[in-house]
Amino acid sequence: MEQLLASGLAVCLFAYKETSRSRTPFYTFPPMQPITKSLKTFILHFVSQYKWHFMAMACFRMCFVLDNLVVPYAFKVLVTRLTELASNRAGAWIKLGVPLMALLGVIVLIEVLFRLFDYMKIRTIPAFEAKIRIWIVHYLQGHSYQFFTEHFSGDLVKRVNDLTDGISQLMMIVISSFLPTFCTMLAGVFSFAYIQPTFGAVLMAWLVLHTATYLFYSKKCGHSVALHAEKGSRLSGSIVDGFTNILSIKLFARNNQATTHLLAPQAIEKRAHEKALKLIMQLHLIISGLSIGFMGVGMLAYMIYYWQLGKLSISEVTYIFYAGNNICNLVWVSVAEFPDFFEEMGYCKQALKLLQKKHAVLDVPGAAVLTCRSPAIAFKDVSFAYVPGKPIFENQNIAIAAGEKVGLVGLSGSGKTTFINLLLRFFDLNKGVITIDGQDISTVTQESLRAAIALIPQDTTLFHDNILENIRYGRKEATDEEVIAAAQKAKCHHFIMSFSEGYDTLVGERGSKLSGGQRQRIAIARAILKDAPILILDEATSALDAVTETEIQQSLATIMAGKTTIVIAHRLTVLAAMDRVLVFNNGNIIANGSHETLLKTNAIYANMCRLQLEGMHSLQ
Ligand SMILES: Nc1ncnc2c1ncn2[C@@H]1O[C@H](COP(=O)(O)OP(=O)(O)OP(=O)(O)O)[C@@H](O)[C@H]1O
Ligand SMILES: [Mg+2]
Repeated sequence: MEQLLASGLAVCLFAYKETSRSRTPFYTFPPMQPITKSLKTFILHFVSQYKWHFMAMACFRMCFVLDNLVVPYAFKVLVTRLTELASNRAGAWIKLGVPLMALLGVIVLIEVLFRLFDYMKIRTIPAFEAKIRIWIVHYLQGHSYQFFTEHFSGDLVKRVNDLTDGISQLMMIVISSFLPTFCTMLAGVFSFAYIQPTFGAVLMAWLVLHTATYLFYSKKCGHSVALHAEKGSRLSGSIVDGFTNILSIKLFARNNQATTHLLAPQAIEKRAHEKALKLIMQLHLIISGLSIGFMGVGMLAYMIYYWQLGKLSISEVTYIFYAGNNICNLVWVSVAEFPDFFEEMGYCKQALKLLQKKHAVLDVPGAAVLTCRSPAIAFKDVSFAYVPGKPIFENQNIAIAAGEKVGLVGLSGSGKTTFINLLLRFFDLNKGVITIDGQDISTVTQESLRAAIALIPQDTTLFHDNILENIRYGRKEATDEEVIAAAQKAKCHHFIMSFSEGYDTLVGERGSKLSGGQRQRIAIARAILKDAPILILDEATSALDAVTETEIQQSLATIMAGKTTIVIAHRLTVLAAMDRVLVFNNGNIIANGSHETLLKTNAIYANMCRLQLEGMHSLQ
């Protein structure tokens, strides 16, 4: 899952809407609206899809009422009979037959209900969790590319799991513990009141105080556990950051420093955890006090008192003692679930904050599908800033004709990749419009926009899948033969076949088992396979040696034919082959013309070329 998130860029670029890549069917999910009002709304949305399953589970769990009240009642009946038979024990088996059979019947029924509950749990919980997890992952993937640059992928994965597991845990605690305990206590109130109203009143008072204490503490505990969950997420994020940058840590021998960095967030998490546990301990203390006071002292004292008055038979004492003890045990067990309940609720609330963020880049209602017959591109009066008040582009105008090949050049950080990101609508503009074939890209579906563009990015990451499927990601319907043909054009075939498993070789997380140049060539093969009318190369051959680059340039020249092509490059040989070159400087396009013209007319460009040539000459 982590790599799904990490490869958000690839998902956006290839504009697919499916759960997995390899040979699995491609599902189309409906557009997602956030269900973000509150945790309750979120849970109810999913529970309502399994309402009958959960209702059946709740009903089967009522075996607790049978186990804790009806069995003691059956014993009460048995004790009454035994007392009656004390003076004449002959034929006792026959006379005890009915109560014994009834008791056995109840015990068998309880076991059957327990097993039915287990069966329903198997039918419900895994499917319920799967539904939530897929929903969350799909919703998160709908976020803009910026969202993924702002969040630790480890933190995102943790929250996906927290919310999925948390909701299922909450449901299980409510259905298998809180609800049966409450129902048993309520049924106990009536059965005790039936025997002697005072016992019903004592149990009722206990029930009310127990519920009120729980409600009073639920908010406080929920808040402090949510705080602990937030600190825990930050800590996990820092740990994941350390693991992701393990190469830098090793290279600079900073093991100690990396661990020291964790001490501060760890200390904060520890304090928050202690605070949450203290509150839960307070709650435990109050609930225990109430149990001892009402059930231990109150109930026992009344039992003796009424027995002395002759208002309570020995069988009734047996029932109240047995059932009262059962109820106490049930309450103990359900109170023991409180820490988990609050903890899960805190984690869920914390994780839900992530889903409360609306998608930043959205299709407009009724967005059209981009029709790209003549892929001309135009930036009209475009202004854009990543950070408000720090514009990268201001009132930028540029037109690229259909089929034109344009090179982008400029110093690092001058805005070249940003120019491409805006064309792909990874970000919305602050002002102006970008059009492709005369259509405003903000009014067409993102899927159709990105289907019209093949990008070979500056930094390619691959899915942890085999090479064949990684290349097929460019066009999901491509046959194996088409994939291999694309790999041959991108000069990958040779190195792929040198692996013992050929195209079935797994590439490792983010493609880490391949070299940078090999990853780049796989990205080129994907783009060749995609065969989109607009081709963008963002320093796509920067990681290749000169021999392989020259070979690939020939293939690229073939696939560029008839396409509108934008190439970000620094090498003169690449720029010289372009129809036009745009020179970027601090977000401004300061020059625009053919390589030859710019050499004569633009001092900055001429200087860049001169420095490159001088560098080459100095080597000779
Ligand atoms: N996601 C982002 N959020 C905030 N600022 C960003 C983001 N991406 C880039 N920037 C900033 O925008 C500016 C332009 O970055 P951009 O990546 O477009 O440069 P570039 O010309 O492609 O550089 P390079 O040649 O090094 O790839 C830089 O100052 C960069 O720090
Ligand atoms: Mg760049």
